[in-house]
Amino acid sequence: MSMPLLLEPLTMRAASARNRLWLPPMCMYSVDAEDGKVTDWHVQHYATRALGGFGTVVVEATAVAPNGRLSPRDLGLWDDAQVEGHRHLVDAVHAGGALAGIQLGHGGRKAGTPPWLPTVPRSEARTSTLEGWDLVAPSALAYPGHAVPRALTLEEADDVVAAFAAAARRAVQAGYDLVELHGAHGYLIHQFLSPLSNEREDTLGGSPQGRRRFALETVRAVRRVLGEGPEGRVLGIRLSATDWVEGGLTAEDTAVLARELVEEGVDVLHISTGGNVPASLPTGPGYQVRFAAQVRQAVAGMTTTGGGSPVVVAVGRLESGAQAEQVLVTGQADAVAVGRYALRDPYAPLRWAHELGVNDWQQAGFPAQYWRGVWA
Ligand SMILES: Cc1cc2nc3c(=O)[nH]c(=O)nc-3n(C[C@H](O)[C@H](O)[C@H](O)COP(=O)(O)O)c2cc1C
Repeated sequence: MSMPLLLEPLTMRAASARNRLWLPPMCMYSVDAEDGKVTDWHVQHYATRALGGFGTVVVEATAVAPNGRLSPRDLGLWDDAQVEGHRHLVDAVHAGGALAGIQLGHGGRKAGTPPWLPTVPRSEARTSTLEGWDLVAPSALAYPGHAVPRALTLEEADDVVAAFAAAARRAVQAGYDLVELHGAHGYLIHQFLSPLSNEREDTLGGSPQGRRRFALETVRAVRRVLGEGPEGRVLGIRLSATDWVEGGLTAEDTAVLARELVEEGVDVLHISTGGNVPASLPTGPGYQVRFAAQVRQAVAGMTTTGGGSPVVVAVGRLESGAQAEQVLVTGQADAVAVGRYALRDPYAPLRWAHELGVNDWQQAGFPAQYWRGVWA
């Protein structure tokens, strides 16, 4: 049978995902010993989503430095001792038939808050900065409710770039197929990009070009680690396409940035929005898809340094197979990420495939063991 586009394979450099459904990074705040190490929880959580049929499973924001953690219970890859746990996680995701990706990030001025815990309603969770946290940022401007960060020196900013590269090297050692840089949601890379959080006048600020430099330098350093040619590992970046407020980043800024990122070695642009300053945003079904479409338009016709076409991933309240398929068929994105829905239903890809009329489990690359569950 002909497959829905959603279930067509997606090739990025040497890696091929069985379909176009992504599990986006979602912090689980489940590191027991506050040492950044993978636990059984992480392995089971991600492996379940791989068995559930996602083509690409991206592990949550993983810190490149201890002070870059969003909370003390975040994952890390700042130390070689953290690699082993990630190796188990990658093996489990691969056994479920998915590509394994990891999001590398640094929280900057939004780092160091108490973790969200399942027992505390989100509305009551405290988000102020933990006492004594070494909070750093492009400029000494606080995110509302958080402590005032210290502005990074140029040398310290170089050290953070090097930390991203070192964490990427560890991700390669662990076997990840894909590294996604966290350039969205008001974390460090986004803080450098946005005029609302970057008031520097040196080479890392002062103009749109200056504000883009930290992101581009990070991409360059990480690309070197991942390998340059078609055999290099896949490099993605998550961007907030807009700050949703006057004077902040706009879709036009993001279009310029997206082209430069592809020229520097990015293969995947994962398009989200917001998070750098408090803003009210529409959160209905598909609320961010139009931004992915604009980025896709901006990079149309470009070739990545690996020789392929840039891949654009849309995310945000994509909650049915038909809706996700529509995003792809109408050319708004190359892949779709499904976050909160996949917390409720890890088997969304299998369910959606069934709803879209797919009856060839083998062709779809889904676990043969689960075939009886659908066609009993
Ligand atoms: C519990 C939770 C944790 C999240 N953690 C991350 C993260 O680590 N990195 C990131 O880029 N986005 C994170 N997000 C945002 C999601 O990846 C996704 O972009 C967002 O939930 C919108 O997609 P959805 O409507 O399909 O859930 C998180 C979201 C949730 C609900």
